[in-house]
Amino acid sequence: MSDFPSFLSALRPEVDETLERLLPDAGTEPAELHEAMRYSVFAGGKRVRPALVVLAGEAWGGAREDLLVGGAALEMVHAFSLIHDDLPALDDDDLRRGRPTLHRARGEAMAVLAGDALLNRAYEVLGREPASAPPERRLEAVRVVADAVGTAGMIGGQVFDLRHEGDLDGRAEEGRQGAVASLERIHRLKTGALIEASTRLGGVYAGAGTEGIEQLGRIGAELGLLFQIGDDILDEVGSSEELGKTPGKDRQAGKLTYPGLFGLEVSRKKALQAADRCLVLIEGLPSRGDLFRALVAFLVHRGS
Ligand code: IPE
Ligand code: IPE
Ligand code: MG
Ligand code: MG
Ligand code: MG
Repeated sequence: MSDFPSFLSALRPEVDETLERLLPDAGTEPAELHEAMRYSVFAGGKRVRPALVVLAGEAWGGAREDLLVGGAALEMVHAFSLIHDDLPALDDDDLRRGRPTLHRARGEAMAVLAGDALLNRAYEVLGREPASAPPERRLEAVRVVADAVGTAGMIGGQVFDLRHEGDLDGRAEEGRQGAVASLERIHRLKTGALIEASTRLGGVYAGAGTEGIEQLGRIGAELGLLFQIGDDILDEVGSSEELGKTPGKDRQAGKLTYPGLFGLEVSRKKALQAADRCLVLIEGLPSRGDLFRALVAFLVHRGS
């Protein structure tokens, strides 16, 4: 199968079953917390990160069952990052995946706590499962995800994203070259880090070895940049029906984005350049090259 959307929809029930198994029941106390965690996790996300864990791991002969555990953990981290990203203190968004954001639906306190609990659950899962894996492999999985989430990863990227709000209004002190470098850093960290962790995690579970994991990491890093350039473009050109979120928010908040700095046409070129870098790196994979290439095409053309 070299059609990525079909791969994604075939995988979705397996990802959802794994998440179902690994998250506390909605009825377990404190029920309002567990219900809030599930509200966000089962809201209809694309499940790109779990798909990447599976794809990367299967390229190196990893077992699907193990890879789904890593994918589910990363999807929990992703859900946490979105819940907090939407909070009034950050992007102040009302709509996510076509529904009210968690703080809109359940209040800010529950959104903060559900985000915290999802992040924590992800580490519980990574440390515990797959039970049959050698402990060093689980430790390595925790390390990969912790590095990607931390101050030199997603959370650090969110801070740079905030720091550079308003730079496009001409208030930036660093000049154009500085702004270009800051923008790339924001995107590689706030979004790229978790996508890079997805491909790396696949390699860890598959026992791909240091060089194999590094190679997967380089592919994930370029995919992540491509992914966030696409997200920026969609914020400018997408509709709320297509995106399930409110478009035009980046410009309204004065975010430093690819379309904001370069315009749409050059942004599309930059996305294609990242896609080309991915395609070169994919050549070196032992298998699953066709699906990886289909994934790159999917990210270049995605409308949501
Ligand atoms: C949105 O991620 C936030 C970014 C990091 C760009 P996705 O586009 O993967 O969101 P869902 O999970 O499909 O809703
Ligand atoms: C998302 O960036 C980055 C993280 C959630 C870490 P955005 O703020 O652009 O994502 P959306 O557009 O709200 O999904
Ligand atoms: Mg944001
Ligand atoms: Mg946002
Ligand atoms: Mg965005």
